[in-house]
Amino acid sequence: MEFRKVVEARASCRRFRPDAVPVEDLRGLVRIAGLAPSPGNSQPWRFVAVVGAETIARMGTVVRHRLAGILPEPADEQIARARSRVEWLATFFTEAPAVIAVVHRPRRTAFDELLEGTPGGPTHAHLEACRAHPGLQAIGAAIQNLLLAAADMRYGACWLTAPLVARSDLENILEVREPERLAALVAVGRPAALHVEERDRRPLDEIFELRYQ
Ligand SMILES: Cc1cc2nc3c(=O)[nH]c(=O)nc-3n(C[C@H](O)[C@H](O)[C@H](O)COP(=O)(O)O)c2cc1C
Repeated sequence: MEFRKVVEARASCRRFRPDAVPVEDLRGLVRIAGLAPSPGNSQPWRFVAVVGAETIARMGTVVRHRLAGILPEPADEQIARARSRVEWLATFFTEAPAVIAVVHRPRRTAFDELLEGTPGGPTHAHLEACRAHPGLQAIGAAIQNLLLAAADMRYGACWLTAPLVARSDLENILEVREPERLAALVAVGRPAALHVEERDRRPLDEIFELRYQ
């Protein structure tokens, strides 16, 4: 597909057909994800494609369990509706035939070594915060690549961070250990419905500003 058409065709997909996603396609998606830019080409990521229905179901169970402990009691109809919407947005991935766990694998760049090695210089945490977490930015770029590749291959996909309310339980299931951290899940599968909803986007003039001086 032409690049612009891929970007326009991509939309979060939350309903999937049960057809398995071939390993070659999962590898293809991750290869494109890995072409994303990263600080000092550090490539601070790893992708775990989960296709086992049992593991995906276990992941859903820990998220549901965690949400049950933190969501407000459904005291009235409105709260009950909001609550079930949140539960759905955090757990629909269990209906996808494949879930790609995106793992942030912190890697020090030459820039980090130099700045953090200066006596009395800024700490790692400070540098990370003032540079707006470059490793995580790179993870975002990789995920967007993956989503665009999925759209190009006519897969439906959705980027999820809501399930990470149960991050440590998910990390246990996926065997992600410090200093790595689970950054997101991406649900992937053939879409059950192939329609792009009306794009609900802020107008260009609201998000674009041009400065001459
Ligand atoms: C960092 C990030 C986290 C997201 N987490 C979730 C999530 O947990 N569950 C979900 O259903 N959608 C999630 N989304 C998808 C957004 O809801 C979606 O991108 C947004 O509503 C715009 O719709 P579109 O992707 O169809 O253009 C996430 C998107 C991003 C970028």
